[in-house]
Amino acid sequence: MIELDLSEPEGIGSLCTGYGGLDLAAISVFGDKLKWWSDIDPGPIKVMSHHHPDVPNLGDLREVDWTKVPKVRIVTAGYPCQPFSNAGKRLGTEDPRHLWPWISDALGVLRPRYVVLENVAGHLRRGFDVVSADLSAMGYRFAWGVVSASEAGAPHLRKRLFVVAENTD
Ligand SMILES: C[S@@+](CC[C@H](N)C(=O)[O-])C[C@H]1O[C@@H](n2cnc3c(N)ncnc32)[C@H](O)[C@@H]1O
Repeated sequence: MIELDLSEPEGIGSLCTGYGGLDLAAISVFGDKLKWWSDIDPGPIKVMSHHHPDVPNLGDLREVDWTKVPKVRIVTAGYPCQPFSNAGKRLGTEDPRHLWPWISDALGVLRPRYVVLENVAGHLRRGFDVVSADLSAMGYRFAWGVVSASEAGAPHLRKRLFVVAENTD
């Protein structure tokens, strides 16, 4: 478990939360609590509201005024993979579902110490150059890796890109 500096803002802010799987991973590594989350799909909203009845959903992340959102130590984002997936149209940053620009804006305002991102491995071919450049420009150093679900014991490959970035300020 990573030792926490308690002078920093606490908590995890979750973007494109889904059922909160990435947040569970972040909580298990960083040992922090969910402070707010953001999703627009009724299914994930139902699951998250059940498990975290007291944690607010900020809704559509494209509509949020980030200057009014409580700061957090960690932001997670498993943003939609359709623009980058080999199974899709492969439009990358041209896809209307490409949400990274809004996530980047949120990070620029919130400036969390850690950012944890998750997407399909195909993101490395489509759009990850933009993500890397934006993180670097905001002063984050980062490491990434591709992990298969089978490496965690699941009976399928499902390769996923994970990125952990740290604010160097
Ligand atoms: C790939 S899933 C995330 C899965 C998540 N990492 C998990 O562990 O469950 C992407 C999520 O982004 C959400 N999403 C799409 N557009 C959004 C938006 N404008 N604002 C907030 N969430 C959005 C979708 O509803 C979906 O649940």
